[in-house]
Amino acid sequence: MLSKKIESALNEQMAMEGYASFLYLSMAAWCDREAMQGCAAFMRRQSEEERQHMLRIFNYILELDGHPLTPAIAEPPHFYDSVQAMFNNVYEHEQKVTRSIHQLVELASEEKDLATFQFLQWYVDEQREEETLMRTILDRIKLIGDGPQSLYYIDKEVERINQAQAAADATQGAAT
Ligand code: FEO
Repeated sequence: MLSKKIESALNEQMAMEGYASFLYLSMAAWCDREAMQGCAAFMRRQSEEERQHMLRIFNYILELDGHPLTPAIAEPPHFYDSVQAMFNNVYEHEQKVTRSIHQLVELASEEKDLATFQFLQWYVDEQREEETLMRTILDRIKLIGDGPQSLYYIDKEVERINQAQAAADATQGAAT
């Protein structure tokens, strides 16, 4: 049984994950139109991951006899100044999500809700991994440079990272 306070905070987190899914889908569209297919594939996969993050909370609330509220999603931006600006935006968004997850963990601890505290540990790990991944991409972009002649190499590098992530996810999925 969830307290109203925890249920409401989980619903807010669900909305944040839903927004991330739409934000990344919008970024996939922008990348595709800029002929950056590797980045587009990466953002599509991230978008799908965020949808799964949202559904994981949705299912948890139902399991605990609460009511998950399918959120209204604000329209994300559709244009970005550069691929670097876009990934900076992703990194900032992930940091915001991490802060929100950490606040939720604190709340679960204050409320002595051990089930939710335990449930949230998966998100703590996931956020650490996502922040590291986005920082890695930003570091690679810095190394390659973001002039027009560099875009091809940035796209190839993100494509390589995306394929490695997809393979790691498949291995993890097969092991669980
Ligand atoms: Fe589910 Fe990347 O926040």
